[in-house]
Amino acid sequence: MVAKRIVAVSTDPDTQRCIGRACNELLVADDLSEGLDIIGTACPDLVVLGGKHTPTDVRALVEGIAQRGLNIPVAVAHHENPNAASDTYIAAGAWNCLPGAVLAEYLQSARKDPPAPMLSQPILDGISPHIHDSDKQYYVDACAAVVNMVGVSESMIDTVRLITLVAESRCDPILIVGETGTGKELAARAVHHLRHPAAPFVAINCAALTASLLESELFGHVKGSFTGADRDKTGLLELAGDGSVFLDEISEMPLDLQAKLLRVLQERVFRKVGGVEGIACRATIMASSNRNLLQESLENRFRRDLYYRLSVCPITMPSLSDPTRRRDIGLLAEYFLRTSTIHPGKSSRIKCLTRLAVEALERHSWPGNVRELRNVIERAILHETTDKIGLSSIEGHLAEYAALSADGPGLPIRDFSLAKAERELIGRALQQTEGQKSRAAALLGISRATLYDKLRLYGLGQYKGGGPAGQSNADPLDAAERIGASA
Ligand SMILES: Nc1ncnc2c1ncn2[C@@H]1O[C@H](COP(=O)(O)OP(=O)(O)OP(=O)(O)O)[C@@H](O)[C@H]1O
Ligand SMILES: [Mg+2]
Repeated sequence: MVAKRIVAVSTDPDTQRCIGRACNELLVADDLSEGLDIIGTACPDLVVLGGKHTPTDVRALVEGIAQRGLNIPVAVAHHENPNAASDTYIAAGAWNCLPGAVLAEYLQSARKDPPAPMLSQPILDGISPHIHDSDKQYYVDACAAVVNMVGVSESMIDTVRLITLVAESRCDPILIVGETGTGKELAARAVHHLRHPAAPFVAINCAALTASLLESELFGHVKGSFTGADRDKTGLLELAGDGSVFLDEISEMPLDLQAKLLRVLQERVFRKVGGVEGIACRATIMASSNRNLLQESLENRFRRDLYYRLSVCPITMPSLSDPTRRRDIGLLAEYFLRTSTIHPGKSSRIKCLTRLAVEALERHSWPGNVRELRNVIERAILHETTDKIGLSSIEGHLAEYAALSADGPGLPIRDFSLAKAERELIGRALQQTEGQKSRAAALLGISRATLYDKLRLYGLGQYKGGGPAGQSNADPLDAAERIGASA
């Protein structure tokens, strides 16, 4: 059943919160009579009765709904496993009787896929029932599973716990920090999923746009406010509605725009570029950075006041090189092998990794973190000729990275053209930063604008990270120019 609008007859905030995540619109009633009033006017798709109610209440509600000429199912959301009691509720006319969290998960999965028959079963090991049993080993909990955040090490358990805590708090804005490729965007999606999954999640990469474009993407603009503004544009802050805006690489946001963002965070109102009308910002603002923002602010590249505003309860994503994440490496490798679509024929023939290969992965320092590990596994799938990924399929890549990070002499110079050397160096910087242009510019000691000019000059504009010859194997989600918007 796809329930867009739900009336919850419950005073329990936990029930309200978890049912609210499973629908577009939640209307809450304190008691049965208020519930019937709201049902009569709002015509919801489903009514959820909190667990304190008795089967007699269910019967009264079902009759009240029928008297109003409506046919709306009533579910009972229990706190605990209601197996013992569910029959009596169902006999009284309830459509089903489940723990609130299971009911919410079920409703959410029904929004994506045709629903499986609904069973009165408790949550298994805290993981949602629509995650296949064999996949549960990869995740700390149901939320991590929903966003595919693999890892069960101590530090992942702590991280997922913090994500949950922050998501359930009123913390806003939320800062997510960590090295490149550690899953900051996944963490943002996890917070979003826990807070308001049915609302839009919009992401923007602050490093990918010029200052003026970034401003009008964020705030929108009114027609005629600048040359080329031939119609009104709605900004992401408005598009996100009650959902989330994810500001990726916030350290790259120009200082004057940082001041405007700070004002939005304080006043919760913004104006379109060239506009006069104040627009309310209801979205949760999340920002990520792989730079040390405190350091950036000490060096006057980031506003100190914005840093303090953002860093109330930062979520730090653990690096893959962190010794406490060692056990995640083999797990992630196996997960990427199972889920890779790079060559379906080959990956279905390859069953696992050899022990030596896993040990070699565990010894590697992973400067590009999980993203790099996924790239290694995808390349290995292409190279492997047997049914197990062995050392020989991964060694090449690991050695290549080691050489790059050791500042080795690089390839022998056969051609002394400065332009070629510059092109090569830019390519290497992009490779090392997995296609992140702001970081590549920093490595090269040039401004982002200069880097963009040179990318155009050398025809590297489409570079998205990856192998040394510029072959692109970056995550489509990671494209530097991405401005994603999804519900
Ligand atoms: N724990 C994880 N489980 C599965 N995949 C992961 C995990 N962490 C990261 N990834 C994958 O690695 C890639 C990079 O993740 P993500 O974009 O969230 O990292 P990031 O920290 O935002 O990186 P950057 O700083 O470079 O923007 C994505 O493809 C993501 O799905
Ligand atoms: Mg990112």
